[in-house]
Amino acid sequence: MKAAQARILLTGATGGIGREAAAAFLAAGARVLLSGRSPQALAALRVRLARRHALGEDDLSWAAADLRMPQEVEALAEHAAGWRCNVLVHAAGAPAFGALDALDAVTLADVLNTNLLAPMLLTRALLPHLRRQRRAQVLCVGSVLGAIGLPGYSVYGASKSGLRGFAEALRRELAGSAVRVQYLGPRSTRTSFNTAQAQAYAKETGSASDSAASVAAALVQMLASEAPERFLGFPEKLAVRLNGLVPTALDGGFRGHGRTLATLASLQERTGP
Ligand SMILES: NC(=O)c1ccc[n+]([C@@H]2O[C@H](COP(=O)([O-])OP(=O)(O)OC[C@H]3O[C@@H](n4cnc5c(N)ncnc54)[C@H](OP(=O)(O)O)[C@@H]3O)[C@@H](O)[C@H]2O)c1
Repeated sequence: MKAAQARILLTGATGGIGREAAAAFLAAGARVLLSGRSPQALAALRVRLARRHALGEDDLSWAAADLRMPQEVEALAEHAAGWRCNVLVHAAGAPAFGALDALDAVTLADVLNTNLLAPMLLTRALLPHLRRQRRAQVLCVGSVLGAIGLPGYSVYGASKSGLRGFAEALRRELAGSAVRVQYLGPRSTRTSFNTAQAQAYAKETGSASDSAASVAAALVQMLASEAPERFLGFPEKLAVRLNGLVPTALDGGFRGHGRTLATLASLQERTGP
């Protein structure tokens, strides 16, 4: 839809990508309901954005929610419906980098709850309202790692792969309704999401990264184009296609990543985090 018609509930608004996305959506003419966990961070972000875009309370608002808590997800959906939201952008996310046996059970649960269960619950809670709109969109911020399994990202990749499956099935389930479902898969993006270890891994394995502003620009484009799915970066786009066609084709190509992961882990064991 046209940005000027969009009233966007943006989760993860206080994050590196979320802050840029909020600014880019507002600059394109959309109204935004910012969401994150910290009321202080949200209020400060609102003040900064409102100053730049000269917007009133209804055009730019915020609501705090910890998306791991189902009752907070319900309350956020209710608030967003009252605010007359017609676009839901799932940009909140939790990271997990490391070999599977180096990750604790709490991290596993947090990542799956935040990256996969929360978008499902929030979409479900808001769906009756979205269905009543003339036009509505649900835009999921996934990852290239949801389409290509990389050593060190088994749990994070599973959460984003699950989100991709959710978006694809829901898109088909809602075909013919007012609601479009979309999935954006950015590659590594320069925000504080990536730990020093994850950054060292990316450097050692020669992975390129994008700015948060370029991911935000892609989100604005997807709002307008209503494209069902898009991945960012080359050769990542090509690798996603190849991996989809022949899932074992890239196994050999990622052996070096596995060795880098093991080297970084043993280095960390010796020197500490
Ligand atoms: N950075 C990358 O390399 C990269 C690449 C591909 C995809 N992505 C995806 O892009 C999205 C944004 O990433 P980012 O780089 O902007 O990360 P970020 O800077 O760490 O921001 C994460 C955002 O998610 C919110 N969040 C985390 N846990 C939450 C919870 N339990 N409840 C509510 N909100 C929660 C944070 O809010 P608080 O202020 O409350 O912490 C913050 O606004 C994520 O879905 C991520 O998986 C990132």
